[in-house]
Amino acid sequence: MSSSPPMPELRARFDAAGGKPAYVRAMFDRISGVYDLMNRVMTGGMDGRWRAFAARQVALRAGEHALDLGCGTGDMAIAIARHSPPDTRIVGVDFSEGMLEIGRRKLARRGLSERIELRQGDVLRLDLPDDAFDAVCSAWLARNLSDIPAGFREMRRVTRPGGRVVCLEMSHPYNPIFNWGYHLYFDRLVPLLGGLIGKSADAYSYLPSSVVSHPDAPTLKGIMEDAGWEDARYYYLLGGVVAVHVATNPAAPSRA
Ligand SMILES: C[S@@+](CC[C@H](N)C(=O)[O-])C[C@H]1O[C@@H](n2cnc3c(N)ncnc32)[C@H](O)[C@@H]1O
Repeated sequence: MSSSPPMPELRARFDAAGGKPAYVRAMFDRISGVYDLMNRVMTGGMDGRWRAFAARQVALRAGEHALDLGCGTGDMAIAIARHSPPDTRIVGVDFSEGMLEIGRRKLARRGLSERIELRQGDVLRLDLPDDAFDAVCSAWLARNLSDIPAGFREMRRVTRPGGRVVCLEMSHPYNPIFNWGYHLYFDRLVPLLGGLIGKSADAYSYLPSSVVSHPDAPTLKGIMEDAGWEDARYYYLLGGVVAVHVATNPAAPSRA
């Protein structure tokens, strides 16, 4: 499967909200209070292990700085902190103030507010200088962007030469039988769970629809390469339900 435009039903929702970014931002503001619980329930707790895998790819060394884009309630930034030396620092950026508020309270409870800073902003127009970070990471962000190639170009702008990008995102299971069962679960049960637990069947029907139109792992790797990232590769987790893409910013100063 390759990249395809949003399904007509999703397009109608985006148009009604004034565009995809406005729809996505309002949706995450609305579900922020149940977001963490829904993640645990939907994945049977596997989301934590997937973030831990991505955090190990970020592989911060002593004194390094990471940027977590679409940081939401902060769980990816926390995973990076857990897997990194104590003098490392992480900045998280998200445009949903509702998600950030939950995240800031979580960081305060865990004594991580000094090490992890959460800021409001649009990841396609970062208010951050060039070459500022040793690594840039995102977990379940790419699918929500209105322009994925622009996202990877902006990530590269703020990453120092030789720095890393890590992208954790839903993908497409490669075994057809597993894929069938996965879609049965994801397309039918997840919206039901979203309605029951999160009182938001709408948001949790956006989730499976957004996965269908998301590029498959080889296509996403190509998008990263076109954005100038080198040595791009990916790891499938749980048979391709999730893919973690990793790449390096070329050391030579070429910012085409
Ligand atoms: C599925 S959540 C992932 C949250 C978190 N990374 C995690 O591991 O649970 C996606 C997040 O991306 C944010 N987001 C989507 N598009 C964005 C954009 N253009 N700029 C900033 N944040 C964005 C949403 O507000 C939401 O909090």
